[in-house]
Amino acid sequence: MLRFVLLTSLIFSSTAIAKPFGDSDKGQQKSPSCIYCHGATGISNNDSYPHLAGQNAKYLYDSMKAYKEGLRRGPLADMMAAQLRMLNDDDLRDVAAFYAQQQPR
Ligand code: HEC
Repeated sequence: MLRFVLLTSLIFSSTAIAKPFGDSDKGQQKSPSCIYCHGATGISNNDSYPHLAGQNAKYLYDSMKAYKEGLRRGPLADMMAAQLRMLNDDDLRDVAAFYAQQQPR
């Protein structure tokens, strides 16, 4: 019995490590338009746009939710909300996972 418990907890913890948040590959496919401002790997080449590479996935998800819900305000926040209009919660998790896994600058 104990062996069974140990084995199942190992299986669960290893999948948790492999996929901590969303699906990074899907996230890349779901965010083709973002590269114009945030770069192909989340390194922005414009000082007005934030780098996303290597940022915490949960923070990225929360920030995108905040844009969508109108909790982040201002002209650029409104623009970001528009960018995210077509993405649902699962999409946001995948996109967050993709940028979180990119190499920071
Ligand atoms: C036209 C340029 C532009 C495009 C396209 C764009 N963004 Fe942004 N993004 C910005 C700017 C500017 C901000 C900062 C806005 C603010 O809060 O003032 C931002 C902020 C963010 C943040 C929050 C970063 C942080 O550190 O808080 C995330 C996450 C993000 N964008 C993801 C995306 C995703 C995903 C897409 C594609 C679906 C996208 N952006 C498309 C310009 C852009």
